[in-house]
Amino acid sequence: MAAQREHFGGRFTAILALAGSAIGLGNIWRFPYMVGQTGGAAFIIIYLAACLLLSLPIFLAEAIVGHNTHSGTYGAMEKLAPGTKWKWLGLLTVVTPLVILSYYSVVGGWSIGYLWQSFTAGFRDNEIGAVSSAYANFIAAPWRPLLFHTLFLLGCAVIVSAGVKSGIEKFNKITMPLLFVLIVVIMVYSLSLPGSAAGVAYLLKPDFSRITPSAIAAAMGQSFFSLSLGAGTILTYASYIRKDENILATGLGTVAFDLLFALIAGFAIMPAVFAAGIEPGAGPGLIFETLPFIFAKMGAAVPWVSSVVAVLFFVTIVAAALTSAISMYEVGVAFLVEQRGLSRHKAVVLIFLGTWTLGALCSLSFGPLADTKIFGQTIFGFCDLLTSNFLMTFGGLLFVLFVGWKMPKAVVRDEFTAGGTEPFNKAIFGAFWFLLRYVAPIAIVVIFITNFLA
Ligand code: PHE
Repeated sequence: MAAQREHFGGRFTAILALAGSAIGLGNIWRFPYMVGQTGGAAFIIIYLAACLLLSLPIFLAEAIVGHNTHSGTYGAMEKLAPGTKWKWLGLLTVVTPLVILSYYSVVGGWSIGYLWQSFTAGFRDNEIGAVSSAYANFIAAPWRPLLFHTLFLLGCAVIVSAGVKSGIEKFNKITMPLLFVLIVVIMVYSLSLPGSAAGVAYLLKPDFSRITPSAIAAAMGQSFFSLSLGAGTILTYASYIRKDENILATGLGTVAFDLLFALIAGFAIMPAVFAAGIEPGAGPGLIFETLPFIFAKMGAAVPWVSSVVAVLFFVTIVAAALTSAISMYEVGVAFLVEQRGLSRHKAVVLIFLGTWTLGALCSLSFGPLADTKIFGQTIFGFCDLLTSNFLMTFGGLLFVLFVGWKMPKAVVRDEFTAGGTEPFNKAIFGAFWFLLRYVAPIAIVVIFITNFLA
């Protein structure tokens, strides 16, 4: 057992760290794309509802387990339900974030590669086909993506090995405000481009006919991924929050920042996409094909402005990915330190070796290992699908059932009053308790089934 557990400095720093985990690639490419494809403003309304009615209660449940026990995932379950099968939830939520980290680091690595390019050669391919093949060649050629994956993971290792306060907290304190400034600057630039209004319309034009049950499930799934739920990261970070902090306030703050960032990212990206006169594409293609193409197009007019924006943009992506990745890394480190008695440095090295290896396989699955398939998916695709569609949802469901149906209600209640130091609001707690016990489990099962059928 670790002798002295570190803590975040205060409520705001805790929120910054949690928001650091939440705000990541999910906000920058997945959210804007989904909004446009799934009904514009109508989707934003559903997404808001999903965040508040579903994801916030799940977030609080997971955070309560960590905050109440001041332990990592496995230790928390051992404290609250010693000697029971719940320890498997503790183990599951150590494995999930490490698998995510492995492939997330590959994409983080690509972002470093593109940042490097925006500093050096810049983006000049004026034709979308050429941009796409440059991207395909880059991710398939084995050595460069592997090198960048290694660099990204090394960056995480350095931050995490410096500790909770001097590593994770400090990095988030500097990076998170910077991320907001950067994304606002990019948004202003993007909105100033001729033709950007179509992008604004794409995000804001409500199309209620597109709101189908599968769109609702997609909104719930997106809020789940964006808030890092069911992966043990929220639990672990919450275990570093001081005892006398109010978990409800922390949760609300985190959800608000995550939402705000996603919205700004939407208005930073889509107007530029439309100004360049192209169809928005899904997934990594948006970041690594569409945007370099835009930078090249803009660059033809005013080269230096476009180069600066390209650099700012990829700095934003790398930084946002790093603040999320360190939260996943920390889950594994906390487990090895607390349960296996390892020193932090040794734990960091072990996690590095494990996630580097799996990540390398994921990276190679775009090139030499492209034909190695697991359930019809490449290694990368399989890790992504397994975690974001199944393991996270399953972890989230178990946390909800554990807190809603197994933990004593009085203990959960205490978390809403900062351990009895703040007044108790019966209506808010009542709503939370209802959403947690009845609405969340049903909604998660719906997401699960939708993913399964997809
Ligand atoms: N929420 C992160 C994002 O939006 C991803 C993440 C998932 C982080 C699970 C931690 C755990 O990119």
